[in-house]
Amino acid sequence: MALRNASLSVNKGEILAIIGPSGAGKTTLLRLVNLLIQPTSGLILFNDVNTSGDDKHQRSLRRQMSLVLQYPALFDTTVFNNVALGLKIRGCPETVIKEKVDNMLAVVGLSGFEKRMVKTLSGGEAQRIALARALVTEPKLLLLDEPTSNLDPKNVSIIEDIVRAANTKSQVTVVLATHNLNQAKRLAQRVAFILDGEIVEEGASKEIFEQPKDERTATYVDGRMIY
Ligand SMILES: Nc1ncnc2c1ncn2[C@@H]1O[C@H](COP(=O)(O)OP(=O)(O)OP(=O)(O)O)[C@@H](O)[C@H]1O
Ligand SMILES: [Mg+2]
Repeated sequence: MALRNASLSVNKGEILAIIGPSGAGKTTLLRLVNLLIQPTSGLILFNDVNTSGDDKHQRSLRRQMSLVLQYPALFDTTVFNNVALGLKIRGCPETVIKEKVDNMLAVVGLSGFEKRMVKTLSGGEAQRIALARALVTEPKLLLLDEPTSNLDPKNVSIIEDIVRAANTKSQVTVVLATHNLNQAKRLAQRVAFILDGEIVEEGASKEIFEQPKDERTATYVDGRMIY
């Protein structure tokens, strides 16, 4: 069983970090929320709507969310085509697509990269394009799975700034799975600690890091957990 007793609520407009050791169930939780896999039991609500249902229902909900993975997983084509795809699928007119892609590339600091093939990008650039592709459709919920674990400090900080700006300027709700406790401290207002498929504790970031209620949380945030 990958997850059990996984009761968790995400507040609209917040950045919530999911922390926990490898194999704890973070990716599984994000994939469930993104409706890529279905729970064997239990309920997932999105804006108070039950997410279970047919493909059409799930597709309409999924279109309000974006998921960015640890590895950018871009399509083997140009930067423009990658960022534009979600808008094309949604039937956006060409002129609007061009304008939105231009704006989005400026936001991630990669204006002028439109014609570049993605396989020529550095890891940091590729991850910024993955984030641009995720944000250009103006999702209500942004799911990030270890988005910076392969990047150098400069790109980590660029990515964090983009996420923070999307959250404050566009009120995108963010759920971020990370091993990087400092990143959780820098970005998240609330934190959930997950261990062996169970959400052990959730609370304000300060509370989880400075006064955790559960001994297992304390052990993990102090770096004393052996696994
Ligand atoms: N499709 C699957 N079939 C069987 N087991 C799975 C499947 N997906 C995940 N698991 C198992 O569920 C557990 C949780 O995996 P998950 O990928 O959610 O962990 P994680 O917290 O994201 O770990 P990491 O930090 O290493 O990315 C692991 O033991 C994993 O092997
Ligand atoms: Mg994972």
